[in-house]
Amino acid sequence: MAFVTALKCRECGRQYPLDPIHACEWCFGPLEVSYDYEGMNGVVTRTSIERGPRSIWRYKDLLPVLTDNVVDINAGFTPLLRADRLAKTLGLKELYIKNDCVNPTYSFKDRVVAVASSRARELGFDVLACASTGNLAGSVAAHAARAGMEAYIFIPADLEQGKIIGAAIYGPTLVAVEGSYDQVNRLCSELADRYRWAFVNINVRPYYAEGSKTLGYEVAEQLGWRAPDYAVVPLASGSMFTKIWKGLNEFHQLGLIDSVPTHMMATQALGCSPIVTAYAAGTLNVKPVKPNTIAKSLAIGNPADGYYALKAIQESNGAAAAVTDDEVVEGMMLLAETEGVFAETAGGVTVAGLRRLIQAGAVDPNGLTVAFITGNGLKTQEAVADKVTAPLHIRPTLADFEAAIAARRGLSAPALV
Ligand SMILES: Cc1ncc(COP(=O)(O)O)c(C=O)c1O
Ligand SMILES: [Zn+2]
Repeated sequence: MAFVTALKCRECGRQYPLDPIHACEWCFGPLEVSYDYEGMNGVVTRTSIERGPRSIWRYKDLLPVLTDNVVDINAGFTPLLRADRLAKTLGLKELYIKNDCVNPTYSFKDRVVAVASSRARELGFDVLACASTGNLAGSVAAHAARAGMEAYIFIPADLEQGKIIGAAIYGPTLVAVEGSYDQVNRLCSELADRYRWAFVNINVRPYYAEGSKTLGYEVAEQLGWRAPDYAVVPLASGSMFTKIWKGLNEFHQLGLIDSVPTHMMATQALGCSPIVTAYAAGTLNVKPVKPNTIAKSLAIGNPADGYYALKAIQESNGAAAAVTDDEVVEGMMLLAETEGVFAETAGGVTVAGLRRLIQAGAVDPNGLTVAFITGNGLKTQEAVADKVTAPLHIRPTLADFEAAIAARRGLSAPALV
């Protein structure tokens, strides 16, 4: 059963039909999906959800897809790992990692694209498209392949190899644009006016964005139907951040969790931190920046949902922190070495940002914290390639091995027994 009712302007509240549109004709405010929550009462329950598939589709009643014919590569229901070793290093009592590195295309974007591609197909589109900072590219290409749709993918030309190949493999038309993500996005807005394509993060953005609510739902369900005290999240456009907040609040509204004590904590790389900068200046107005950071997946200088992300920080009594590129790398390595999770640069931003927020006293060490790790490190190997310890290089002999080990330990080779 579908409980979706309409698209609604976030600013003036005007309602629109469930079309491929994203901005209010009246005030240009962004459109958001609204639902019949009353109708869900007694129908959407803990039990009904627990009976669902182990993917985002267990929350289908809360997603803007009308039919059962969804585009499904099994996005979501990723592990929530208790992270005691990282917690100890950071001085926290209870820390969990939401490990979205292990989605089908190795980032949280599978959540949003699963919803966007399903809705796009329902709306009769044959072509899926996007402007991407990298992860979206692979996810859109994969979902298009699975759906038998054509794909046009636009990326900044300077992306990491792992992201380019990780999208190209699915056979889309991949367009590397000489320019920043913000320029790619502007080009795509023009293209969206010209061609009848479903640009997942432009004309079908209201549906797409809803997919990120499932991160909030899953964490609450996996914690045993409760919301965390702190949600630490990496921001680019700010959309996912706002939707985790929305998801937790919907669960509360439906009586699935008792309360939402969550403080929403935003993290960005210093080289692209327009949202953190606005937070620090005490304003809700984001000033666009020109990105320069190794966290390319987060390199959006003019974040579409920056204002709403700042509102979510405000409403949740949260905070924000930015970290240097060196800290990003340290964060990636710390996460890998303490918990066995190889995250991309965005994960380094989360971990390093969490450390800063603890140091600043913004995260109470006694609370329950969830760090959202949203993309896989194999896609951004460049960031750590010269930081990891090179392998010992030996000939296939025992003597070589022991000499190499001894050399690494700064000892002389042991006598052979
Ligand atoms: C790995 C990763 N994490 C986080 C984000 C931020 O998402 P949003 O644009 O919804 O803020 C992105 C965006 O591309 C991403 O690729
Ligand atoms: Zn409006």
